[in-house]
Amino acid sequence: MRLLLAPMEGVLDFQLRHILTSGSAFDSQSGDKFNSNGGIDSCVTEFLRVIDQEFPNKVFRRLCPELEQNSRTLAGVPVSLQLLGGQADAMAANAARAARLGAHAIDLNFGCPAKTVNKNDGGAKLLKEPDRIHAIVKAVRQAVPMTTPVTAKIRLGFEDRSAGLCIALAIAEAGADQIVVHARSKVDAYRPPAYWREIRPISDALKIPVVANGDIWSVDDAKRCQDESGCSDLMLGRGMLARPDLALALKNPNHQEWHWEKILKLLYEFFCFGADHYPEKFSGNRVKQWLNYLQRYYLEAEVFFQQIKSLRRSSDIRALFMTQLYP
Ligand SMILES: Cc1cc2nc3c(=O)[nH]c(=O)nc-3n(C[C@H](O)[C@H](O)[C@H](O)COP(=O)(O)O)c2cc1C
Repeated sequence: MRLLLAPMEGVLDFQLRHILTSGSAFDSQSGDKFNSNGGIDSCVTEFLRVIDQEFPNKVFRRLCPELEQNSRTLAGVPVSLQLLGGQADAMAANAARAARLGAHAIDLNFGCPAKTVNKNDGGAKLLKEPDRIHAIVKAVRQAVPMTTPVTAKIRLGFEDRSAGLCIALAIAEAGADQIVVHARSKVDAYRPPAYWREIRPISDALKIPVVANGDIWSVDDAKRCQDESGCSDLMLGRGMLARPDLALALKNPNHQEWHWEKILKLLYEFFCFGADHYPEKFSGNRVKQWLNYLQRYYLEAEVFFQQIKSLRRSSDIRALFMTQLYP
């Protein structure tokens, strides 16, 4: 089983990729051999939206600072660079540049439901046009060396979830090396449930790896998703933010569930990392954003959120962390 950390625009940037795949704040006593990468096998950047331009190198490096580290997080987990757009030639040109800069793989986003994105011809809108998806994947495959994998991320369809098989076949035929399927249509947005069973025809038909994604919040969810979808590989997004040891728990049946104290250390590490990179007025915002996800699993996160939500100055936020970490 491989576990992939999902791309999440505005949330899962290089700092959070580092925290979720790092061993630094993890329990060195447990002897857990998966500790060093948080149980994650690979990551994907947030999307880079391509219209008709070829971006300069600095744009790729900003999106994916890991390019400076052989396209790996500090713990050594490979990071794919994600592109989103509807113009095959522009997508190919940007993919070629990303590959030259050392991107571990090029991932193509055909699942984003955002209106601003779809208005501009990209993301889930293309699920209505498998031929165009095929042309984009093919152009990108031809533009990058064979040593650079080309992968795609789709939903099951735009409205009709049974369209997924036709779309996935087009992607595979165009030469992609892997497909992640978010088990919903564009119209389903993020409403539960995720239709894991509807990935099954795709995983049965394709020879390349098919990765299941959507609403995996627990070990039990992961097992049911594997059974229903026929996929052993999974992509985890919000579940990893709600429960940062989810991948470790999936990889190791003897894993000891993380307590709030450990999560607090991770949050503090994340805050310090952010304080080095963001202006003061923003440095607490990322912590508050993550706490929103953590509240789903940790009752303590709700209490901490109430305490931190009105704080703006990083000195006040740091002081609050100190009272919690060293009561
Ligand atoms: C805030 C947010 C941002 C997202 N950004 C991206 C993105 O940049 N690229 C992408 O392919 N999917 C993106 N997604 C979709 C996720 O990668 C994933 O497919 C979806 O959240 C379902 O998986 P989950 O239930 O494990 O979170 C985003 C989802 C959310 C909630």
